[in-house]
Amino acid sequence: MTDKLQKAAVIGWPISHSLSPTIHTHWMKLFGIDGTYEKVAVGPEAIANLLDQFKTEGYVGFNVTVPHKLDIMQHLDKIAPLARQMGAVNTVKIAPDGTMTGFNTDGIGLVTNLKKTVPGWPKDKPVLILGAGGAARAAALGLLTEEVPLVMITNRTRAKAQAIADEIGRGRMTVVDWDDRADAVAAAGLIVNTTVLGMKGQPALEMDLSKAAPDTVVYDIVYQPLMTPLLKDAEARGLRIVTGLGMLVYQAAAAFKIWFGIDVEYDDALRTELEGQF
Ligand code: ATR
Repeated sequence: MTDKLQKAAVIGWPISHSLSPTIHTHWMKLFGIDGTYEKVAVGPEAIANLLDQFKTEGYVGFNVTVPHKLDIMQHLDKIAPLARQMGAVNTVKIAPDGTMTGFNTDGIGLVTNLKKTVPGWPKDKPVLILGAGGAARAAALGLLTEEVPLVMITNRTRAKAQAIADEIGRGRMTVVDWDDRADAVAAAGLIVNTTVLGMKGQPALEMDLSKAAPDTVVYDIVYQPLMTPLLKDAEARGLRIVTGLGMLVYQAAAAFKIWFGIDVEYDDALRTELEGQF
């Protein structure tokens, strides 16, 4: 590590509510890295100039969030294979010579959070993914890497689920009709909500869990609120749950590793700091 100020950032629009600065500055302090991590609100028209500025100022890298995860790719020199498969980038590393490489750490973040929270999750059973946006694609790729036997995907707009299954499923993904999702629950060892439903300001996800086996794990990637209606229902039924905040933390951990080469953890101090912001 040099003694130069290590600069990183998250770019998006809007960005004011991002928790990423809290997470990264926690680890920078913990590991004695003299660095900054700022939020930069930027629209699509200003991205090229911003990236030039990051290069000139010697940034180590940056995170990318809504709405730039797809469009950022055209500005980068290299895209890591997993990010290419996901069709989206959430982390960029800037080499000392200015070369920019795009990565996607959302899938690994989701899986790490699952493994840390529920080490004994029923890996031998199919997974049911709800939704077919970028988060669903990341979840599917992450879970397929874990060699689950089957990923079932269901989405209000069926064609989007079918497109994901066709592109990345390699014979291990099937599409379930949105109206049949309650039946698919019976076979699933893990249910992952990647839709926006249940988020503050959105309607709750209507998901009948009555057919779930007792060892089923219910995972919601929505973390605002921390306990979504889906998770409350699952918990009331005695099912094991995984809240979404850990995914945010572990995708950040993977980004931190890419920039600084250091393995970091979701420690209690960070948990307290983050949960205090809700
Ligand atoms: P991201 O890229 O973050 O995953 P997204 O692409 O906007 O976000 O995806 C949002 C997901 O929530 C989609 O699966 C969307 O379903 P459609 O593909 O049918 O639009 C789902 N979603 C949003 N509102 C919904 C609703 N009222 N009922 C069911 N699904 C909904």
